[in-house]
Amino acid sequence: DTVDWDPEDAGKGEYDHYMEKEIHSQPTSLANTIEGRVEDGTVSFDSLEPGTFENVDAVQFVACGTSYHAAMYAGQLLRAAGLPTDVIRASEYETAAGPVDEGTLVVAVTQSGETADTLDAVRTAAGHGAQTLAVTNVVGSTAAREADNALYIRAGPEVGVAATKTYSSQAVTLTLLTQRLAADVPEATPAEDREDLLETLQDLPQHVDTVLETSRARVLAREFMNSTSYFFIGNGFGHSVALEGALKFKEITYEHAEGFASGELKHGPLALVTDKSPLFAVYTDGSDDKTKTNAIEAQSRGAPIVAVGPADHPLVDVADAHLSVPDTHPVWAGLLANVQLQLVSYHAATLLERSIDKPRNLAKSVTVE
Ligand code: G6P
Repeated sequence: DTVDWDPEDAGKGEYDHYMEKEIHSQPTSLANTIEGRVEDGTVSFDSLEPGTFENVDAVQFVACGTSYHAAMYAGQLLRAAGLPTDVIRASEYETAAGPVDEGTLVVAVTQSGETADTLDAVRTAAGHGAQTLAVTNVVGSTAAREADNALYIRAGPEVGVAATKTYSSQAVTLTLLTQRLAADVPEATPAEDREDLLETLQDLPQHVDTVLETSRARVLAREFMNSTSYFFIGNGFGHSVALEGALKFKEITYEHAEGFASGELKHGPLALVTDKSPLFAVYTDGSDDKTKTNAIEAQSRGAPIVAVGPADHPLVDVADAHLSVPDTHPVWAGLLANVQLQLVSYHAATLLERSIDKPRNLAKSVTVE
């Protein structure tokens, strides 16, 4: 259930930075992630026998940083399938986790498989009898070895400290996992639009390519270069993308960036909004009124608004700029919006001449608690 890592992946090739290379490799890495895992409307993973999850009655995702944002995606999908699901920051596990027993599946989402906080949470859960699963990029990592089962995201090695292609591959793998869980767990109901979800996934690599080819992110990054803060809002899948967009931005530009649930903007953060605080409003389908209303609220306080999502949304007409993503299922639209935001961060950081691949104070994998 793994793919061999090509030794050619080791260099930067034609790119200035590993991060740029890794952003641009997403059509390929996503094709690897998907390959052989969806057939005739069914999801299967070589490493997970049918029935692996038949005794599961609740799910907890534990993760840190970018992996946490990918886990939020899966959490929303599983709750929609009727399965009690929590998405918990691994460092908060001891105080934030509800009851854990043999019916609980604890999924550690960790690119490296070595993050101390995440490993610690899984060990605690296993101590309470939980079934454990590691969703990771690194074959033979500690998480993969210690968990009852391992599922690989197959993104290939990621050198840039800021996670990009691995986020996309995590979100896709986790989305597929939710469909597999819904099939195994008797209480869960498969998504109504499951067929559409799985069918449109086949177009995702091509859509990412379209975003990479047509993005106006660099122009916008230059336009907003002298801002004081950068805000990102979104609802549902858009919320996790907004959080990830803000995290990426602060990691590599060292500028102040925050992500919020669209509806929360008015409950405090609005006090920070000025004409020097551009707001990226992420949405994944045309019916997301909350993001529109709250974005307009910020716009009326002077903030430039960038709509990030498909073209058929009323926000596009009123926004100051639009970062467009191809029409597709809302789950994939969120990932495409995230690619646009990866490019915004990357270009802003290059214009500011930051250390792109090794941001100050950060490590690719944090092995201390
Ligand atoms: C570090 C990295 C982040 C990453 C987080 C979790 O903080 O700088 O980019 O998201 O660890 O890493 P993991 O390997 O567990 O996904």
